Amino acid sequence: MKLSSFLYFARFGIRSVLLKKQEPIIGSLILTDRCNLSCKHCSVGNKASVIYPYEQILSEMRILYDMGIRVLFFYGGEAFLWRDKNKTIRDLVIEGKKMGFLFVSVVTNGTYKLDLLEADLILLSLDGNRKKHSEIRGNTFDLIMDNIKNATSDNICLYMAINKINKNTIRDVCNLAKETDNVRAVSFNFHTPYSDTRELALTREEKQECCDVIAEMMDNGAPVLNLRSAFPYLVDNSFPTPCHQCVVIERGEISTCGRCIEIPGLCEQCGYFFVAECSLLFKGNIRVMIEMLRTYLKYI
Ligand SMILES: C[S@@+](CC[C@H](N)C(=O)[O-])C[C@H]1O[C@@H](n2cnc3c(N)ncnc32)[C@H](O)[C@@H]1O
Ligand code: SF4
Ligand code: SF4
Repeated sequence: MKLSSFLYFARFGIRSVLLKKQEPIIGSLILTDRCNLSCKHCSVGNKASVIYPYEQILSEMRILYDMGIRVLFFYGGEAFLWRDKNKTIRDLVIEGKKMGFLFVSVVTNGTYKLDLLEADLILLSLDGNRKKHSEIRGNTFDLIMDNIKNATSDNICLYMAINKINKNTIRDVCNLAKETDNVRAVSFNFHTPYSDTRELALTREEKQECCDVIAEMMDNGAPVLNLRSAFPYLVDNSFPTPCHQCVVIERGEISTCGRCIEIPGLCEQCGYFFVAECSLLFKGNIRVMIEMLRTYLKYI
């Protein structure tokens, strides 16, 4: 991370904590809900199968920038499926950097060629070892591993949503993150139980076991882009929600934290590690602050 970006984020953090401000700095922009996969745990893919037009995306990027957002995530559906007027996801990333976003990232299922060196980070979903990933995401594991191997840059972070199916494969994904070229780290979430996937949610005890395994892997040198100081809050679902520093924009509509904020009772069961980490950080949790500094400066 550039020193100037680091200083910008540090100033924002200090101001938010000391003045108890709730201004957003992290924005996710939904490019499409269309997807080439239909994963067992997902409740957002292919609902209307729309690809939003380039001008709309640009205008939403401008809206986010004017709100003070400086960290931008392009999201789907599948972001690499997005295309309009000869523009691709790569053009959007370049446009984002030109506009002044300090950190631009893309979240992907990894089934398309990864030629995106302009992105600060590619969050690439891998939901376990070959067997468990395939059970959730279809027969895509080998294709994804090939795409990682042939990627044009080393800005990939694996992204695993832990649920009832894959909870025993955390070690496999940590080892892959450690051993695979072009992969910098792995980041985890717990399954967030939308009404159609409640059966995949972990119990408190299962979450505790998963956090113990992640901590053990961290101790053994696995590159994990999460904060163990947030684990107790994730296990107990006791972190403050929603996270006021995060927003999502889709079709010009802005939601605080996630689009899931509309779903009654879901925030109390939220499994998104980043939401826990971010909301604890901006509430002034000192352990989270120190660990975030150390972890993010190491892997990003
Ligand atoms: C909705 S997908 C969109 C981006 C891309 N298609 C992908 O799969 O990475 C973004 C991330 O959310 C995760 N996800 C989907 N449903 C989830 C849920 N109910 N709880 C936690 N994570 C979930 C996916 O595994 C993926 O890592
Ligand atoms: S690839 Fe992503 S958007 Fe598509 S179904 Fe799977 S989790 Fe949902
Ligand atoms: S469930 Fe609530 S806290 Fe979690 S990401 Fe969605 S809006 Fe944020």
